[in-house]
Amino acid sequence: MRLINISKYDHTSMVLGKPIYDSRKRILLAAGRTIDPKIVKRLENMGIDFIFVEDEISKGISIDDMLDMPTWTDAIQVVKSFYEHAINNKTPNIESIQQIAGKLLKEVKHRPTLVLIPAGTMTKELQPYAHAVNVTILALLTGKRMRYTDTKQRDLAIGTLLHDIGKSIEEDYDKHPEVGFQFLRNISQISIVSSHIAYQHHETFDGKGFPRQISGKDFLEVAQICGIANRYDNLVTKDKIPPHDAMEAIMATSDSGYAYNIVTAFSQSVATYPPGTKVLINNSEPAIVTQINKHLQRPVVKILSSEEEIDLVENSTYMIKPIDVLNGE
Ligand SMILES: [Fe+2]
Ligand SMILES: [Fe+2]
Repeated sequence: MRLINISKYDHTSMVLGKPIYDSRKRILLAAGRTIDPKIVKRLENMGIDFIFVEDEISKGISIDDMLDMPTWTDAIQVVKSFYEHAINNKTPNIESIQQIAGKLLKEVKHRPTLVLIPAGTMTKELQPYAHAVNVTILALLTGKRMRYTDTKQRDLAIGTLLHDIGKSIEEDYDKHPEVGFQFLRNISQISIVSSHIAYQHHETFDGKGFPRQISGKDFLEVAQICGIANRYDNLVTKDKIPPHDAMEAIMATSDSGYAYNIVTAFSQSVATYPPGTKVLINNSEPAIVTQINKHLQRPVVKILSSEEEIDLVENSTYMIKPIDVLNGE
């Protein structure tokens, strides 16, 4: 299976690899079938940018380290319902957000890593909530690397799932961290740490962030983790920067954006070449990532012309470069 830009879908050689859901969690298209070109247009109009497909070159590649679809769509629905309650100033369902946080925490705990399902595989309407879930997964992977306890991971997860809740209450973007904080701190079941994640997620280590320009020790570690994960996901999803370039941009913010140890933990937790990614080896050989290794930035690849598999950890001089999925490859 591999992920492609929907504009590159070819109904003569590809079938759908994972189901496509509508905003009410109903299956629109089941896995295993071909998609009629007219339906492809409809999906594009619904704001779906990416789909998982099976074709000749993706044969034999399974993306094991990915959240299963029901868990992913459940998490998105729960976040959506929580954010919508906030719009109407109603009391949201705390229990379900705690449950989802626990579920994500468990998924991260028992796997070597977790590959994100891009928000762009969902309809436009669901993408802000998919963003919140993905940022949470990235944050939990980082927390795990930093040997956080379950209690700390839970606070991190809840704060990160709700980091942008201020956006559904307040139109002024600059105010969303504080408005979110004020909303969350009035909910007794939500820890003050989680509320502060929403408050601080746009601050930076050098005091040039917003809304309060806090810096150094005042900038909570958990909020820094949410901040890094949020920035990375925005670079990849909104700015359409390839994951490994986004990772380099994040690493360049070490000490200015976020503390060095947190940036390091983040870079050691996130796989920037998910299985199924088309890449160029040594600037000339098209290949496809087949497996993630211990080293998250040096996967196992299969050369397309010869079908030879190469472990980039053992071949440390080989260069890897993505053929940008977002540019339509
Ligand atoms: Fe935000
Ligand atoms: Fe965000």
